[in-house]
Amino acid sequence: MAVESSGASVAERVRAVIDAHRDDRGALLPILHGIQAEFGYIAAEVIPVLAAELNISRADVHGVVTFYTDFRSEPAGAATVKLCRAEACQSVGAEQVVADTEQVFGIELGQTTPDGSVTLDQVFCLGNCALGPAAQVNGRLYGRINRSRLVDILANAETRAASPTENGAGS
Ligand code: FES
Repeated sequence: MAVESSGASVAERVRAVIDAHRDDRGALLPILHGIQAEFGYIAAEVIPVLAAELNISRADVHGVVTFYTDFRSEPAGAATVKLCRAEACQSVGAEQVVADTEQVFGIELGQTTPDGSVTLDQVFCLGNCALGPAAQVNGRLYGRINRSRLVDILANAETRAASPTENGAGS
């Protein structure tokens, strides 16, 4: 399999996730979330394993993976940027932030830069509506995003101390 292995074989890690959720109602979704948490994405090679283990067709698994935008079929970049496009953020310029960000990085939403440094995704409400436009960078929440602020956040993403939010109230 193309997915990265550490310690236990990839197949063993896949089966461990399956076994943890096999008896869940509608097991496929929690299993896929578990696989993505384990490997960072749903590799194509995992799909036939899931189909065989759950006794469903490969097409069914593939259909679910491609239907839900939360599931990734390729590894994400070093930084994952999720831009909010829900109504409250749209009303304060989220679409311009999306356009600017796509221009800065030369990719569209759902894509990763060729050097693997940044993945852009959309999200619909991060619970930070009062401080929109909102974004999440590597799981950390930011408010009042604009082009220059986002570039600055990404430039400093690796050196900032981890904390759950930075809403830019003073910027
Ligand atoms: S609408 Fe963007 S955070 Fe709620």
